[in-house]
Amino acid sequence: MKTIEDLGDLRGKRVLVRSDFNVPLDGTTITDDGRVRAALPTLTALLEAGARVVVTAHLGRPKGAPDEKYSLAPVATRLSELLGKPVALAQDTVGESAKETVAALQDGEIALLENIRFDARETSKDDAERGALADDLASLADAFVSDGFGVVHRKQASVYDVALKLPHAVGKLVLNEVESLKKATEDPQRPYVVVLGGSKVSDKLGVISNLLTKADRLVIGGGMLFTFLAAKGYSVGSSLLEQDQIDTVKGYLAQAEESGVEIVLPVDIRVAPEFKADAPASVVAADAIPDGQMGLDIGPESEKLFASKIVDAKTVVWNGPAGVFEFEAFASGTKAVAQALVDAGANGGFTIVGGGDSAAAVRTLGFDESTFGHISTGGGASLEFLEGKTLPGIAVLED
Ligand code: 3PG
Repeated sequence: MKTIEDLGDLRGKRVLVRSDFNVPLDGTTITDDGRVRAALPTLTALLEAGARVVVTAHLGRPKGAPDEKYSLAPVATRLSELLGKPVALAQDTVGESAKETVAALQDGEIALLENIRFDARETSKDDAERGALADDLASLADAFVSDGFGVVHRKQASVYDVALKLPHAVGKLVLNEVESLKKATEDPQRPYVVVLGGSKVSDKLGVISNLLTKADRLVIGGGMLFTFLAAKGYSVGSSLLEQDQIDTVKGYLAQAEESGVEIVLPVDIRVAPEFKADAPASVVAADAIPDGQMGLDIGPESEKLFASKIVDAKTVVWNGPAGVFEFEAFASGTKAVAQALVDAGANGGFTIVGGGDSAAAVRTLGFDESTFGHISTGGGASLEFLEGKTLPGIAVLED
């Protein structure tokens, strides 16, 4: 893959950068700006090289037409604060406003195009439609830098097709992500422990079956753990359960047993009668969740168990919170997992926090980001990388 430096002298050149600015918003307030900050090394390098930087990005899943709710305006403001310079926001994606905004750029200046998913061609399954949008994007630039790691698993116009149209390079964020994730996927130092959480088993099927041939231990928390408990024959009360995945999970448990991979499940659960921040919480054994109670976090004994299975790891990948960490009363399990990763790191292990939610958890729970080996900006992308899948947005840079 060519790097930014391989693109040669960029002074005065228009460089289109694909970033992932899909940040969580509360109205127009960004609640976690991790992805904006992660974009800075590439943008700063290009600006310092005298390029005219044009950033394209998405936010949320608008339906292929402008929708104010998904405007990148809050991102333009935050990016400008972080860079300490103006960021011109075009009012459209590749239309008149985009053309004028780009034409007005001077060397070392930066513009952001409106949410690229306001154009239905971005996510089209039709190659020609995506190609036409890629042509429009390419007409705004002299070179393309791919830096939106969170979206490289999508074969979309601004991620994949535009790289076919312009001299291209991998951005610093994508390069760093790929190098870090390769440490876990290619010949990881052992013990190799993967901690999975988040709500749905069905989102993690590919990664679980792949890891059953690679990891030494799989530690399971989050909403998905209840499907594992159900597969062991336990009742799970009104906890999140994917009934249609129970047989698949039974298969995983059997496969793990055969291949000697340890699957670590919680031994106790924090439950409440309803999904509410102030619902009355209690702790019950994992095999005795009463009817009418739902599990919202792992319990204190499970925290100790999980920590003991993580701290000695030489490679740890964590994807998905252990509980509903957004509610103070159910954040303890996720804190314990994050702390166990920090401890594993202090013991010489390489730790990766993957997935938008776990990365956000680490920051909102007040952990020092530098105590983790790598905090990925990719949710689905980092999972697909761990699954061993080919990511179109990376593959296209490899020619
Ligand atoms: C993400 O948040 O995982 C990425 O930005 C990709 O978003 P998408 O799942 O809507 O394609």
